[in-house]
Amino acid sequence: MNKLDIRIELTQCSFEELKLDDQELVLASKKALELSHSPYSNFKVGCAIRLENEQIVLGANQENASYPMCLCAEGTALAAVASQYAGIKIEKVAIHAPTNTPASPCGYCRQSFKEYETRMKKKFNYLLAGNKDIYGFNGIDTLLPLAFSAEDLKEQ
Ligand code: THU
Repeated sequence: MNKLDIRIELTQCSFEELKLDDQELVLASKKALELSHSPYSNFKVGCAIRLENEQIVLGANQENASYPMCLCAEGTALAAVASQYAGIKIEKVAIHAPTNTPASPCGYCRQSFKEYETRMKKKFNYLLAGNKDIYGFNGIDTLLPLAFSAEDLKEQ
């Protein structure tokens, strides 16, 4: 029997340590918090996606009185990219929640990012921002190792 040891690598830094264009993206994700409709959880999440053409696309969580219908910030931003900027690939994603430890995308959103990385045939860069530190990493496999994807469907 073999033991598989899967490790993940993140960077941790302050806002001031980020490059200027990353600071701009994190600030955009913070600004996106204003677009959140979250009267049920009172938990705001903002997302800003930088495309390869430098355009920044925003998203924020949109809740519903029928709770399971709630949309995550990441999903609304990804849907906006796919529907309004068809053919333009994603470069970097910033996610923001006003929490002490950086917000981390839920399992559903991790799977969504996996689908978009597969569709766009590239890994995206990610910045997870909270009130203090910022975590950075490349590729959603970092948070979703052994992800299920379109590749698996070809194997049966
Ligand atoms: N939420 C997101 O927007 N993204 C995530 O990755 C996790 C959770 C939202 C959904 C809901 O509106 C609120 O946070 C509380 O779960």
